[in-house]
Amino acid sequence: MSRIRKNSRQVCHSQPLCPDIANVAIAPCVIVMVGLPARGKTYMAKKLTRYLNWIGIDTRVFNVGEYRRKATELYKTHDFFRPDNEEAMNIRQKCALDALEDLCQWLQGGGEVAVFDATNTSRARRQMIFDYCTGKHSYKTFFVESLCTDPLIVEANIREVKVTSPDYMDMNKDDAVSDFKKRIHHYEMLYEALDEEHDKEMSFIKIYNQGEKYLVNRVQGHVQSRVVYYLMNIHVLPRTIFLTRHGESAMNETGRIGGDSELSNKGKQFANGLAQFVEQENIPNLRVWTSLMRRTVETAGGISAPKEHWKALNEIDAGVCEGLTYKEIQDTYPEEFANRDADKYHYRYPGGESYQDLVARLEPVIMELERQENVMVITHQAVARCLLAYFLDKNQDELPYLKVPLHTVIKLTPVAYGCLEEHISLNVDAVDTYRPRPPSVDLMRTSHEALATVPPYLGDGEVFNGSSSPEKN
Ligand code: ADP
Ligand code: F6P
Ligand code: PEP
Repeated sequence: MSRIRKNSRQVCHSQPLCPDIANVAIAPCVIVMVGLPARGKTYMAKKLTRYLNWIGIDTRVFNVGEYRRKATELYKTHDFFRPDNEEAMNIRQKCALDALEDLCQWLQGGGEVAVFDATNTSRARRQMIFDYCTGKHSYKTFFVESLCTDPLIVEANIREVKVTSPDYMDMNKDDAVSDFKKRIHHYEMLYEALDEEHDKEMSFIKIYNQGEKYLVNRVQGHVQSRVVYYLMNIHVLPRTIFLTRHGESAMNETGRIGGDSELSNKGKQFANGLAQFVEQENIPNLRVWTSLMRRTVETAGGISAPKEHWKALNEIDAGVCEGLTYKEIQDTYPEEFANRDADKYHYRYPGGESYQDLVARLEPVIMELERQENVMVITHQAVARCLLAYFLDKNQDELPYLKVPLHTVIKLTPVAYGCLEEHISLNVDAVDTYRPRPPSVDLMRTSHEALATVPPYLGDGEVFNGSSSPEKN
């Protein structure tokens, strides 16, 4: 089944469409997690969903544990999960069916990928899911199984996420760990793993011991091949990503967008401060990535760590508007200025790019970041917003307005099911390049109304002579 993508709208009309995911027809797909408890199913389900949404595929997780917690307060101990606990078994079966029904309804309403997050450890349960999703609804079904035989990994997983689960609100940590191990044991008694022979008609990936080995069978179509590629690139080693913009540039000082100018004096101070910051943090095996633009390469100059320069990290190409101030864009291309305000994510500058284009260009950067350990990325305002949106799960509407001030390092630390964000200001003054979202956009607005949305601190082409940005970085 193919359908028109909801997000395939391109606001600027003069450019050829770029061959990214926005223009690929997606056949609805159900991704079914499989595995014993504490094997990283929810972790992978959430992370995959964040990635697929970021690349523009509308994805949602349906977690059966959450349905169970809403349906019953019966869970007191592991006994709930005993295979001979008939009452609980019926509740679990009903919850799985309710979640499946909601999932299919959501796909019918235009959703593209639904992730069914439950244990699904018996062949009968998987057959029921396949019959329902593929037999009844003609959605593609793809199984993702996680197997883990290392008891240390399982114990660490339980301690990281399970002891804080709502199931264990009233239990101390050690009792919760012990109860959870017994819960796993009940599942082990009936567990039937996906089997190369028995399940050879099914589409699936089996992931062994956190990615030590994979088995991939009958991958069907675009979504499944992206899912496989993604799952084979992610890892769970602890690491930190440092995201920052270049130091203030000569063009920033005058409120002009784009260009390839050098650092201002304050920008150079930031570059020095950043080199000191890296030295103080003493980050093992740090790699530094910059764009190809002078201002990022210069910013990285004093840092002693291996450096790589990526064209994909270059700032958004503003096409005919490169080198203009926002005021000059309004004066010269008022319609373009209004169209951008009306839909900043999809709007593509004539001869340039949109935020949507940027996400497509940054996908290989994200994939490589997933493979790496500690990395500092020195890039630009629009690019940093796209990367931040991936890590912090921000949607297309929020993304183009994320705040990434100059002279600030954003420290991103992956934790359990998400990412911690810390802003570290290096206390070097800089202009503020942030133009807030206009309160409402009337395409027929007057020039006066449009200009009222451009903050004075963004400059009028002259060096801003206030002592610092009105908003402290
Ligand atoms: P489940 O949903 O299977 O009960 P969780 O997703 O709640 O398990 O477990 C989260 C933990 O699993 C995290 O600590 C994460 O580091 C770990 N993890 C992530 N991927 C894997 C994997 N492929 N195998 C084993 N553990 C993993
Ligand atoms: O102003 C600095 C800058 O990096 C420009 O080069 C770029 O066009 C702009 O920010 C992107 O921000 P926005 O999308 O908010 O205009
Ligand atoms: C659960 O209830 O937490 C759960 C994962 O359910 P099931 O094992 O039935 O999939």
